[in-house]
Amino acid sequence: MAKLTIHADSPLHTINRNIYGHFSEHLGRCIYEGIWVGLDSPIPNTEGMRNDVLDALKKLQIPVLRWPGGCFADEYHWKDGVGPAEKRKRMINTHWGGVLENNHFGTHEFLRLCELIGAEPYISGNVGSGTVAEMSEWVEYITFDGESPMANWRQENGREKPWKLTYFGVGNENWGCGGDMRPEYYADLYRRYACYVRNYGDNKVFKIACGANGADYKWTEVLMREATKYMDGISLHHYTIPTGVWKDKGSATDFSEQEWFNTFSNTLIMDELLTRHSAIMDTYDPDKRVALIVDEWGTWYNVEPGTNPGFLYQQNTIRDALIAGINLNLFHHHSDRVRMANIAQVVNVLQAVILTEGADMLLTPTYHVFDMYKVHQDASYIPVETDSPAYEMDGKQITQLSASASKNAQGQLHISLCNLHHSEPLVVQCDMKGQHTNTISGLIITADTMYDHNTFEEPEAVKTVTFTDYHFENDQLFVTLPARSVVTLCLN
Ligand code: AHR
Repeated sequence: MAKLTIHADSPLHTINRNIYGHFSEHLGRCIYEGIWVGLDSPIPNTEGMRNDVLDALKKLQIPVLRWPGGCFADEYHWKDGVGPAEKRKRMINTHWGGVLENNHFGTHEFLRLCELIGAEPYISGNVGSGTVAEMSEWVEYITFDGESPMANWRQENGREKPWKLTYFGVGNENWGCGGDMRPEYYADLYRRYACYVRNYGDNKVFKIACGANGADYKWTEVLMREATKYMDGISLHHYTIPTGVWKDKGSATDFSEQEWFNTFSNTLIMDELLTRHSAIMDTYDPDKRVALIVDEWGTWYNVEPGTNPGFLYQQNTIRDALIAGINLNLFHHHSDRVRMANIAQVVNVLQAVILTEGADMLLTPTYHVFDMYKVHQDASYIPVETDSPAYEMDGKQITQLSASASKNAQGQLHISLCNLHHSEPLVVQCDMKGQHTNTISGLIITADTMYDHNTFEEPEAVKTVTFTDYHFENDQLFVTLPARSVVTLCLN
């Protein structure tokens, strides 16, 4: 049995809704096919964007969407993607499969997508192969209200009024695909590029510096030492690879119990990463003004057999549902510093919430967890103490229970629980401090096997259903979690 102490009477800071952010790159079938099908497509669409995907994303209440990369961002030249579509320059997407990019989806289309789904845009600028002027002009093009070369051009291209643009990334993975830089060099470049990312009118840009790759603490140290004052956020990337081996990451659907266990062991590293990067940030920014932004996270497997290796298309099982639940719980626990996160990626790439095939679309188990957890967006973080049995395999131990809680403006307490075990159920005894419960309801996502997933033939094999396996005994709440499950309870 696990014990959970929930301090419902001690709400702390707000869980920033942006922790529920997503990421859309010009990679494989994410933008093209997954979102953009074009104005002449037989697939029902709104201004070229498929309606089924728009509806599903709207329902998820995505707060913020990152674009255009990723590695693609540092070779993207935004001017190629505005103006009449047929005249737009074509390029080769060298990072992702060497395919032709026709630039039909550009700035106007992305910002329209954000409007249609109700998300705030988060644009990543090009430091690796772009100029300071190019970055500066992009912000002018999007946000300047009045007479200026870029604002005039925007108007010629059909958009009279500027857009609101808050989140802007100054480069992506500049330690790798974004220019192979040393942190000292990037810190100086960051300061230079960021200087020309201007605030026009009342549009205030929240500037995000490229942060570390996983446990590269030196990167965070140097950036914070040299550039804290010039940034509002710094990013962090951590992918969960079951085998830990880049060349053979493991299959999305065909894996052993050991691989199931290792996947969780590897994802739980996120806790240590957030703790240690935050501690470095604390020394330079004790008031926590600068946000830690996990703008790429999620599972990364071998691509589905027979698909383009450069397209990063993978299936999504109940294992991914648990990965989503565990990481969202961790972001809640670190939400005093972590104020945005963007799962990679939204459609058809890596740990996607949506998969498409021609006119068909399905929602993955990860989608259902984001849907179930959205109740935590902008709620007050409730501290919890977790005393969990160890989940053991091959001499290694991890926690069997992952949990977090929040209280919303209406006073509802939401508790999210993940049972990581591949075969054992788990009873959780919850001691709720300062909580008087009149009604309780629950949702669960679970599956008969570790490999269960949704297919285009059976799109609802894994989905959320009502959960009722709980009862009160002497003011303590007892919850029985099936093996391989994610649950969210709502207490009034
Ligand atoms: O999400 C796929 C890739 O992973 C991104 O383009 C890059 O930033 C990271 O290495």
